[in-house]
Amino acid sequence: LVLPLGWMWQASLLPDRYDMAAMGYADWGGGPAGAHDHHHGTEVADLVADPSLPADVEETFTVATDGDRFTVNGTTPGPVLRATEGDLVEVTLVNDDVAEGATLHWHGIDVPNAADGVAGVTQDAVMPGEEYVYRFVAEDPGSYWYHSHQVSHEQVQKGLFGAVVIEPRGSGGSDVDEVVLMHQYGGGGTVNGQPGTTTVVAEPGDAVRLRLVNTDNGLATAWLPGTDFRVLAVDGRDLNGPTDVTDVGVEVPAGGRVDLGFTVPADGARLDLSGGASVVVGPGDPDGVRSPGPGEVLDLLDYGEPEAPPFDVSRPDRRFDYVIDRRPGFLDGVPGLWWTVNGGLYPDVPMFMVTEGDVVVFEIVNDSPDSHPMHLHGHHALVLSRDGVAATGSPWWTDSLEVGVGESYEIALLADNPGLWMDHCHNLPHAAEGLVAHLMYD
Ligand code: C2O
Ligand code: CU
Repeated sequence: LVLPLGWMWQASLLPDRYDMAAMGYADWGGGPAGAHDHHHGTEVADLVADPSLPADVEETFTVATDGDRFTVNGTTPGPVLRATEGDLVEVTLVNDDVAEGATLHWHGIDVPNAADGVAGVTQDAVMPGEEYVYRFVAEDPGSYWYHSHQVSHEQVQKGLFGAVVIEPRGSGGSDVDEVVLMHQYGGGGTVNGQPGTTTVVAEPGDAVRLRLVNTDNGLATAWLPGTDFRVLAVDGRDLNGPTDVTDVGVEVPAGGRVDLGFTVPADGARLDLSGGASVVVGPGDPDGVRSPGPGEVLDLLDYGEPEAPPFDVSRPDRRFDYVIDRRPGFLDGVPGLWWTVNGGLYPDVPMFMVTEGDVVVFEIVNDSPDSHPMHLHGHHALVLSRDGVAATGSPWWTDSLEVGVGESYEIALLADNPGLWMDHCHNLPHAAEGLVAHLMYD
């Protein structure tokens, strides 16, 4: 069976699927970036919306084809976008020659809806010769990334992405702070586009922060054999009271980010990644220390110190089931074996409707024969439990959550960012095969 995977996010097909007026949603959004109130109050919204206010960080990202890859300003990955907490960021996307059009989605940054960059949902794809301006305030320090959200399963895999780092305001930070983008361009693993071993210059005793970003479709695992380390942050949110661990793997779901912190040992450290690439940090490749390979992995459910959540998760305003399964059927008239949400074949999946201010609990259940890195746009959700076992560690905020075969997760979020938001699998071929739903504000 040959499945046409290219159709899903073609701008030409989407207007029908998202005919909001026909679905009874007259006022769902669109329009210029910043047209919506941002969740942290009108001050921020005004700041984003007023085009006369100069941005603190201003970039032009030109996307183009290069052989069978896509580039941003001539390279893949594209440039690292760096901002400081509170900065107004303005990025102009210019499409040189990406024939199917492109967008920029700010994965993990809870931007205003009109800056979310989802072709066919929050904007039209930007066609060759066109441009689009994204404006948002870099409110939450952490590690993020950007990527095209048009025919994503092709454009992201072929390189249309880059990292975003939001530094905390006025903090000393680490001696060494590096982004580690993990990607496979249809071959072996690369780090920041380089196969094999990448070297990070550091001295013994330096405090290092490695920002692992999984831009690929599969679950990645990282090891730091023999080196004590801690997980500082997950999905752009610091963990509370993380403790040192040794010789344990750290999993990074597709789309997810994990920041590791450690002190460089006398003979250096080496990070081994499941895709086959490595990062040597410090004086050299530490001798005789090798990755333990597949083995114990760190469980975030009970890692770090608990802290009271910022909203009352015991009395949700809405509870939703999100049951993932697979069955034969027709998706847009095409026969195949498709992923389903609550039994429905996309787009016959009702939107999850919320009201601003709601505390929303989702129970995500994976009854399908594959695991799914589930990504919610525009929000961070707090993990409450897995398979009925309550989370007891640091608050674990996520926007990209690996839901394994047979697993169930209960997560909670505050509906504080009005708009229409995708909630989909970030194993992007799965999304093209139907694993997409939406969260929508009434
Ligand atoms: Cu990183 Cu909807 O995607
Ligand atoms: Cu999936």
